[in-house]
Amino acid sequence: MRYLLLFIVPIFLFGETTFITPLEYASQLYKNPRGIGCHHCHGDKGEGKVIARYIEEGVEKEFSGPAINELNFNIFYNALNKRKNGMPRYFLTKKELQALYLYLQENKGKKNVK
Ligand code: HEC
Repeated sequence: MRYLLLFIVPIFLFGETTFITPLEYASQLYKNPRGIGCHHCHGDKGEGKVIARYIEEGVEKEFSGPAINELNFNIFYNALNKRKNGMPRYFLTKKELQALYLYLQENKGKKNVK
């Protein structure tokens, strides 16, 4: 019995840490999507973020990434498959986009607090 435990206990202690859940994978992908991380422009939870403020012809302007944690999947998917102003072009697979979408769905309703 004691010998059996010697084999089983390490599985519980270390076995689990070598696997990541789909949500952990998704949150890592959000920060490192083979290119600049989405969080730099859309905030840690996809709640939107001001990237820069500047003055143009005496008027204060803002360059910001919109909130992306409340979009439906088609809008999200299409936005990532065409060029948009200020938004980098990524080459992510459908599975990767589904993972990112899962992460953002988990953060639905989180707002940008300034
Ligand atoms: C350099 C800053 C930047 C980064 C990094 C970035 N985005 Fe964006 N994103 C933008 C800006 C700016 C817009 C708004 C573009 C427009 O209005 O045409 C945008 C638009 C979007 C939209 C469309 C929103 C809508 O309401 O239609 C989605 C979806 C999106 N980004 C997802 C992502 C994801 C996912 C990542 C990471 C893989 C990412 N973005 C990385 C700046 C960025």
